[in-house]
Amino acid sequence: MRRSLIQMTVLGVVASVIITALSLLIDWFPEQASTTADDVDLLYDVLLIVSVPIFVLVMSVAIYSVIRFRARPGDERDGEPLHGNAQLEVAWVAIPFVLVTALAVYGWIVLDEQEDPRPNTMDVNVRAGQFAWRFEYPQPGGQSVRSDELYLPKDRPVRFRIRTDDVVHSFWIPEFRIKQDAVPGIVTTSLTVPNRAGNFNVVCAELCGLGHTTMRQQVHVLEGEQFASWIGARRQALAAAPEPGRQTYTTYGCAGCHTLEDAGAAAATGPSLDGLAEVYDKRNPRLSLEAYIRQSIVDPRALVVPGFRADGMPANYSRQLSRAEIDTLVDYLARASAGSSGPGTAAAIRPPPGASR
Ligand code: CUA
Repeated sequence: MRRSLIQMTVLGVVASVIITALSLLIDWFPEQASTTADDVDLLYDVLLIVSVPIFVLVMSVAIYSVIRFRARPGDERDGEPLHGNAQLEVAWVAIPFVLVTALAVYGWIVLDEQEDPRPNTMDVNVRAGQFAWRFEYPQPGGQSVRSDELYLPKDRPVRFRIRTDDVVHSFWIPEFRIKQDAVPGIVTTSLTVPNRAGNFNVVCAELCGLGHTTMRQQVHVLEGEQFASWIGARRQALAAAPEPGRQTYTTYGCAGCHTLEDAGAAAATGPSLDGLAEVYDKRNPRLSLEAYIRQSIVDPRALVVPGFRADGMPANYSRQLSRAEIDTLVDYLARASAGSSGPGTAAAIRPPPGASR
């Protein structure tokens, strides 16, 4: 028995050392492209060093026992009855508890450092939808530069504000070592500082439907001045274009039912949109202004204003309008319903209740 125990331990320890060394030799991750990638990789190595030896040791003991102590053919005996072993039980509860707690604290510290607010952070709104990512760069006038591909300046901190228009997705940039869920109804955030110019992957890491595997795009990390000229050109195009949301408002017949001074509409079949920014949260305190407007367009029956008919508003706008048109319309109505759609009105829109994150 004693000899078996020594054999088993020696085998287990040797196997642990070899397999842990192998697991550290494997190159698990793609290249690093953010300032915090190194900390994340170190965290991963520490997790390997702590968990692989335990796993290999336990498996060695189990496999050794199965082979060494197997019953001979025809042996039907059940073996000695076993009662508890208090020392062993205390050990196998206490040791994992200490290990898991220590690793959780370490992981929390690394995440906390990654999410530390940094000066000169640029906000980028990330919109998930089956099955593509869309990106918005908020501008001082309240409008946003939109893009289907993600462009970022090198060495500037960026905070992603992540939303979804339908189901749960997960925003993952492996080279930055960041991953954050996009959850219906809330805005999640993720911070990073890209520190390598180049093209990397934006991947959805949550099974979100049939097209999940196609939900992949690119992030282009540009040198500072290249990014400035990219966003500058987009910004100019935005300023030169007529207010696209106002056009959508009239093209799709919104003006036929809803009063909106900014669009020269004075109909009263549906609720007036003037001053909506002031009253929407009394109608539904759970939604932000944008979310309230969006839901009113795509699912009007869920948000009927008292005094108006539930079937007064067609329920098929989510199919008539493209996703980009709905984005534009929501953006425009949020600004126009706060008083005017001119520059500087974004500040007049109060932050939605409970939207502090
Ligand atoms: Cu979106 Cu998977």
